[in-house]
Amino acid sequence: MGERTELCAVVKANGYGHGAAPCAAAAMRGGATVLAVAAAAEAEELRLHFPDARLFVMGALTEEEVRVALTARAEIAVWRDGFQELCSRMAPQFRDRARVHVKHDSGMGRLGERHPEALIEIARTVSSDDNLELAGVWTHFATADEPGDAYFGEQLAAFAPVADAVRKIAHGCTVHAANSAATLRDPASHFDMVRCGIAMYGLDPFHRDPADHRLEPALALRSYVADVKRFVRGASAGYGRSWRAPEDTWVGVLPIGYGDGVRRGLSNNAEVLVGGRRYPLVGTVSMDNITIDLGPNTDVEPGSPAVLIGAQGGDRILAEELAYRLDTINYEITCGISARVPREMSE
Ligand SMILES: Cc1ncc(COP(=O)(O)O)c(C=O)c1O
Repeated sequence: MGERTELCAVVKANGYGHGAAPCAAAAMRGGATVLAVAAAAEAEELRLHFPDARLFVMGALTEEEVRVALTARAEIAVWRDGFQELCSRMAPQFRDRARVHVKHDSGMGRLGERHPEALIEIARTVSSDDNLELAGVWTHFATADEPGDAYFGEQLAAFAPVADAVRKIAHGCTVHAANSAATLRDPASHFDMVRCGIAMYGLDPFHRDPADHRLEPALALRSYVADVKRFVRGASAGYGRSWRAPEDTWVGVLPIGYGDGVRRGLSNNAEVLVGGRRYPLVGTVSMDNITIDLGPNTDVEPGSPAVLIGAQGGDRILAEELAYRLDTINYEITCGISARVPREMSE
């Protein structure tokens, strides 16, 4: 990021599963000036922890959710004609003017106004409304994580003149577009502020190795070996007997399962670190337990720490590795860690 670019820390979905409040606090210590979420209730929750932070709700809001967002003194996104009138009507019930960011759909095909003239008209209406403050103009990229894809440049080219026009209407309004991939990929997309989520958690927006961009994963998912059992050849582990010991072996039982976010698709399709070594996850992932094959001779004992995501000894299992096995993206892996898993901060 350039020196004059602000960082908006995206901490929606409980900080991508990491825990919103501690991540928001860490991000602000690291220089973030705005916290972004998707839903009004997320802003309401953050406001309890951060009385003075700038909060931005990026998602679509119902009338009731506008009330929740404005009560939390959050900034909100507008694009649909008429929505800014609703915000304007409601704003006087709250202390300040409602701060809104007009959203251009430059090609994502999701939220935002497609037509530049229509969006600029909304920006004019907002700027002439005493109950509203035009705080920003923004867009979102569809293919920033696909390096070499021309569509990214097309979206940037479509957004830049819209941003210029809105800036002329409201001097000092914040222009923002870049997510993590765009931030790493192209400084031309940075404008006044970047909105980073995935990279801030040390995960790779390009779905490869975070180290490629000097990113360090912030999260580890840990469990422990609750029991170690002798299996004779042919003995099975778990529901449906999807794995049977090919030879006499030892099996470790870990008290973590899909109820915690270890997806069932990892049945017979993952590895777990114990004592710094990788062991295959065998059998079907249950709601509360998984089993790993420790081999015919083992020194692993009940109580041994186990790592499903993260480093142990000299080895490391990345969220990207699990995403690859499940044919999904790292975002879904960490967002999928359920509320049952206690989040602990370590320095
Ligand atoms: C509108 C918007 N901006 C920014 C982000 C952050 O994206 P990333 O996590 O890829 O940095 C998101 C996340 O999906 C988003 O929806």
